Amino acid sequence: MNIAVIGAGYVGLVTAAGLAHLGHTVKLGEANPDRVASLEAGEVPIFEVGLAPLLEAARGTGRISFHISNPTAVKDADLVFLCLPTPADATGRADLSFIRRVVDELALVVEPETILVVKSTVPPGTTVALHKRLADLGSSARLVAHPEFLREGTAVEDFLQPDRIVVGAFETLDADAVSALYADFGVPVVQTDPTSAEMIKYASNSYLAARLTFANALANLSEAVGADIVDVLEGVGLDHRIGPHFLKPGPGYGGSCFPKDTLALIEVAADAGYDFRLLRAVIEADEEQRQRIATKVKNAAGGDLNGRTVGLWGLAFKAGTDDVRESPATRIARLLIDQGARVQAFDPEASAPGILSTGSPLEAVDGADVLLIATEWPEFTTIDLGEVRNRMRGRTVVDARNLLDPATVRGAGLEYFGLGRS
Ligand code: UGA
Repeated sequence: MNIAVIGAGYVGLVTAAGLAHLGHTVKLGEANPDRVASLEAGEVPIFEVGLAPLLEAARGTGRISFHISNPTAVKDADLVFLCLPTPADATGRADLSFIRRVVDELALVVEPETILVVKSTVPPGTTVALHKRLADLGSSARLVAHPEFLREGTAVEDFLQPDRIVVGAFETLDADAVSALYADFGVPVVQTDPTSAEMIKYASNSYLAARLTFANALANLSEAVGADIVDVLEGVGLDHRIGPHFLKPGPGYGGSCFPKDTLALIEVAADAGYDFRLLRAVIEADEEQRQRIATKVKNAAGGDLNGRTVGLWGLAFKAGTDDVRESPATRIARLLIDQGARVQAFDPEASAPGILSTGSPLEAVDGADVLLIATEWPEFTTIDLGEVRNRMRGRTVVDARNLLDPATVRGAGLEYFGLGRS
């Protein structure tokens, strides 16, 4: 098939490279000329495991090309994937201006039978509204809601081995055309109406956010009553109705998706006359979790952060990415800095404005009163803890990811505070 992908962000790039890998001819449309130039020069503008070789292979077969002009990219396309950002606006609602602008731009340019595929996360009802917009503009282009479920860091794997495919269409024929792309994957395909497809995406992200916030709450409670959260969640997760995934306590959820999607769903609910109190409580508890970690660090530093140095391992919102958007690590770092601490950070991939980055995990703990582990990079488990102790001024490790083995840390002469572990 001839496929256009509009937007060379992480969803667009992975989708384009993945579709080319499946044998389709893909034209990628991107408004940022620097990004197009870098892609044409063989560079990969984002860090995503497995993306570089997939793009390289696509270039090698000549099945992928890059375009600044969207009308050029969609010429002769059977399907046009819209992979555009939908950031939260000042009210928490999803900002649909990028997607509306591109739909307007393409309405009369695409062939009448072309299917526009909405990959971006958009609030329930958006595809119906865009459909009307196309009709008002005199376009007979078709429209399908086809949400993505890619995780940063494992996006290529998620594209090639998804749990499920969701296609929301007005016509069965359009749903079948999109579903056919994944015929060889052998995974369940949910064909539904566009609004339900959009709802599946928000429901999935909000449920996952609520689930891990619940695990954080259980960790806090376990700490208070003297239970061990690792054992508690192992026991809970073995119930097949619950399962073991997404139950790791941490400093709260971050990234470009959960924070904005939970906020947006609350606004969708409010606009529809439903007060989604449960989800509001999740967002509140998530922010409390960041503050709780900052308080743990403050207590570990003797109750006052003024003039204290905190070594910080991790800036990215999770391991496997350089993304610091809504990162709990950077939020906690700023809470500590605001209370007078000097924060010395190390992250293998990420950096953040206003937070001092050092060249290695050991440099980050030089003269530190407390070490805070905020991102679960596996390489942090192999650092020589004896050397960490030698370089630190203090002796305390606050492990906000339960990444290290408490006995090993204590064996190195350090004090260990995890989450939900006595
Ligand atoms: C999330 C969803 O998992 C994807 O399915 C979805 O496609 C994507 O959002 C999106 O909407 O585009 P992502 O933002 O990459 O993917 O991050 P996750 O891997 O889901 O992690 C989210 C946050 O939860 C991270 O801060 C992570 O550290 C935290 N987390 C996750 C925990 O604290 N504990 C867990 O057990 C799992």
